[in-house]
Amino acid sequence: MTISDVGGAPAVTTPRRAARLRRYAMTAPTFFAVEYAINPWMDTSVPVDTALATRQWEILLSTYRDLGHAVELIEPIAGLPDMVYAANGALVVGDRAVVARFAFPQRAGEAVAHAEWLTRRGFEPAFTRHTNEGQGDLLVVGSIILAGYGFRTDRRAHDEVAHLTGLPVVSLELVDPRFYHLDTALAVLDDSTVAYYPPAFSPQARARLRSTFPDAIEVGSADAYALGLNVVSDGRHVLLPAAATGFADQLSQAGFEPIGIDLSELLKGGGSVKCCTLELYS
Ligand code: ARG
Repeated sequence: MTISDVGGAPAVTTPRRAARLRRYAMTAPTFFAVEYAINPWMDTSVPVDTALATRQWEILLSTYRDLGHAVELIEPIAGLPDMVYAANGALVVGDRAVVARFAFPQRAGEAVAHAEWLTRRGFEPAFTRHTNEGQGDLLVVGSIILAGYGFRTDRRAHDEVAHLTGLPVVSLELVDPRFYHLDTALAVLDDSTVAYYPPAFSPQARARLRSTFPDAIEVGSADAYALGLNVVSDGRHVLLPAAATGFADQLSQAGFEPIGIDLSELLKGGGSVKCCTLELYS
């Protein structure tokens, strides 16, 4: 945001935000359930309504398509209840596709499914030796990758990802188990703009974020705890969890168009809009 003086009174001019058409991949929550608990959001004693999860997910899908984005569907597989969180399966940048290596054995089968899907799509999938949870922890911002570590992705995988994609990687340490993936604590809004929840990061990571993104939007606890940062932006429209109303206001003030999406059932697995969306970066 730039502030200019008009007639003595400060006037605020918000930048014009431009959308760019995107390509996404998603997996329907046909087999979604909370059968195990691998993050603090998951409670196996809380019932999940899979039919409602599916209806909510379909609204996310149709919203992307109504905005003109291309969405490809990856077939869900019975016995892989977290496969709806398609973002975790891979990192795709141009013709480079890095397949996830999951931290928990319950999700290992998803990596196999993603590798097969990528192969069918004409990619030659690459693998890391160390744990990486795809776009849960590896977020492309313009021509760099912000990479989370501390809970899932192994810091040593960051170098592997830099090597495989050819992009510089900035490592950021996550310190709060509620924000176990980078995409739960930081939102990429366009090629140079991010929003984040500072308490989710180590002091060093916070300092790094402050110096790299001096104009970043800092989000408050209420929005962060609604998983409000788990968003997908096309540069103008920001699809975010509907409950994150404070963040929605901040986005409007910054010239973005927030679109609230209710994914309450999928929140029970510890994921929301971004988790359900693998972006195929060109
Ligand atoms: N239950 C899944 C897990 O704990 C949720 C993954 C959410 N995805 C994400 N991109 N944050 O692994």
